[in-house]
Amino acid sequence: MKAVVIRTFGDPDGLEVVDVPEPVPAPGQVHIATEAIGVGGVDAVIRRGALAAHGFREGHLLGSEIAGSVTAVGEGVDTAWIGRRVWAFTGLSGGYAEQAVAAVENVLALPDGLTGAEAVALGGSGVVAHFALNRARFTPGETVLVRGAAGSIGITAVQLAAGGGAGAVVVTTSSAERGARLRDLGATHVLDRSGGGGPDAPAGFDVVIDVVGGPRLPLFLDRLNPDGRYVALGVVGGQPPADFGMRLLDAFRKSLSFAVFSSDTVPAPEKQAVRSSQFADAAQGNLRTVVHEVLPLDQVVSAHRAMDEGKVFGRIVLTP
Ligand SMILES: NC(=O)c1ccc[n+]([C@@H]2O[C@H](COP(=O)([O-])OP(=O)(O)OC[C@H]3O[C@@H](n4cnc5c(N)ncnc54)[C@H](OP(=O)(O)O)[C@@H]3O)[C@@H](O)[C@H]2O)c1
Repeated sequence: MKAVVIRTFGDPDGLEVVDVPEPVPAPGQVHIATEAIGVGGVDAVIRRGALAAHGFREGHLLGSEIAGSVTAVGEGVDTAWIGRRVWAFTGLSGGYAEQAVAAVENVLALPDGLTGAEAVALGGSGVVAHFALNRARFTPGETVLVRGAAGSIGITAVQLAAGGGAGAVVVTTSSAERGARLRDLGATHVLDRSGGGGPDAPAGFDVVIDVVGGPRLPLFLDRLNPDGRYVALGVVGGQPPADFGMRLLDAFRKSLSFAVFSSDTVPAPEKQAVRSSQFADAAQGNLRTVVHEVLPLDQVVSAHRAMDEGKVFGRIVLTP
């Protein structure tokens, strides 16, 4: 079968479509004929070699999030799964392929009315947005900033904050056109990447949900309201300055909180319950998924190039 391997770490040209043996489900796994493959930010991080110290080496089969049909199950898995259309997390490898295997606890049946492409645009990122807002103890009426809102995590966070009764939903993004699309999803104020450009935007935020990090993080930490909560989810803009935490102590009397949040610490059944509810909402049109483009697996290099060039709004999906 066809799969995508990282031949050489670095730019997208280091990715190659190769023939590999079909995967066989181990005990506790299901085997899936792939229909849609999500191209996530973490795939680009692995491709660049940034996670080599964590065991991701050249030769790695890329891909973590797929949708498709279950064609076989491993020992100990209910055969009722066979034939079901599902979303699955493959565990940071093997997803960019015509067939894949996944642990059954990371597999969820798709509701009628949800396409595979929509499922991979929402399945992994939607739960991150949900639990990040929980971690921030967001309550109705509060002012929320979503930093890096044009990615699939941010797109769901904007909708959940707006739907949850936020007093204002402020976003950062890199163009007026992307800002208009975010307003359409529920943003009330649009800032540029440095936090400027929104003359009528609230000066302070009760909650910041941040996938960007990077050198500008302290600028946004300074804009937390008293008792404000800042939740960092990712570092697509690089690492923040090493001493950024001093801002919290310098503003001691504002009782600010800073948290890092990874959905890895949320038990799988809790994530599946939220994912299932979000899939149902999406199938009914109450939660929007944004698929930037659907490309054949053979065009994986173009897909990664578009991500590196910052052209993607939402998620690129590959089809085998
Ligand atoms: N915490 C968790 O549990 C968890 C789970 C999965 C993934 N992640 C992390 O989340 C990130 C990916 O999330 P995603 O797919 O939603 O994001 P994404 O699409 O990779 O990026 C989101 C947006 O950030 C903006 N951006 C990119 N580079 C920037 C920069 N240098 N400075 C300022 N803004 C920049 C871009 O929008 P504009 O051009 O419009 O500004 C981009 O669309 C990765 O870091 C991944 O590791 C975290």
